[in-house]
Amino acid sequence: MSRFNYPNLGFGVGLRHQHFNYVLDNRPRVDWFEIISENFIDSRGWPRHVLARVAEQYPVVMHGVSMSVGSADPLDFGYLTRLKHLAREIGARWVSDHLCWTGILGRNTHDLLPIPLNEEALKHVVRRVRTIQDFLERPLVMENPSSYLSFASDTMREWEFLNALAEEADCGLLLDVNNVYVSSVNHGFDPLEYIESLPHERVVQIHVAGHTHCGTHIVDTHDGPVMRGVWELYRLACRHHDGVSTLLEWDSSLPEFPVLHAEVLKAKDYLTADSSPPESESLEHVAAGCSARASRHALAGAHPPHSSLPEYV
Ligand SMILES: [Fe+2]
Repeated sequence: MSRFNYPNLGFGVGLRHQHFNYVLDNRPRVDWFEIISENFIDSRGWPRHVLARVAEQYPVVMHGVSMSVGSADPLDFGYLTRLKHLAREIGARWVSDHLCWTGILGRNTHDLLPIPLNEEALKHVVRRVRTIQDFLERPLVMENPSSYLSFASDTMREWEFLNALAEEADCGLLLDVNNVYVSSVNHGFDPLEYIESLPHERVVQIHVAGHTHCGTHIVDTHDGPVMRGVWELYRLACRHHDGVSTLLEWDSSLPEFPVLHAEVLKAKDYLTADSSPPESESLEHVAAGCSARASRHALAGAHPPHSSLPEYV
């Protein structure tokens, strides 16, 4: 299996500034850390110092929120240069970002906005991902977004778009199981069909995260534990994506580090269980929810606020 020879790092969590001192003082036995690239690329102070220390002791992966591969703006090579330097400096195992656009005319909305899923957009994104990979001199890992609306110009399903993107740009994929779950409810598709249709050999990482169910739709809030239905979907996803690094995203209402670490370790229980734990929300429930809640309940642009460090950068 290819996966660009990226290793299975195990079960990791995001490195957030609220836990800097705890991580330095206690060296927790977490397998690896993911950072939000933008929280560190412009820092020369405490965050960068902490990151250097962490990178000496743990594998680190860089996860970005500003590449804006779907935008019509020119690529920001200043940003990409800083990204490349940081990746080299900390020995980042890989660099990822999202299938989305984040702004136009030089303005960053700090949101991960959906793109039309059609041939024109695909060509645009493929061209830009190829350019970025050539510049970074490494494969890029692209994450499926959570979304709340679709476009009248869509001609393909999101998993078809990702398949074509991965093949034509020769990039990796980051499968966010929570995003699949959220979007499956908001748009009314089968989350298992989505996951089973992805090119498994290109999936190098999985995200799990918490969300907020609003009755008629779900918002990808990253502000609590992973919901049981997402864990169940994760267990089923790992039948196809066995041996893929798993990362818990938790960006607001952060608990103490041991709680965060314990949450991601639940993944091991789901992987070793023959069937879902008795109290788990079933996939039938997910599917029923999908058909009942269509995309008419769209929210424009909602996305979890990734942890940021404006006070330090
Ligand atoms: Fe994610």
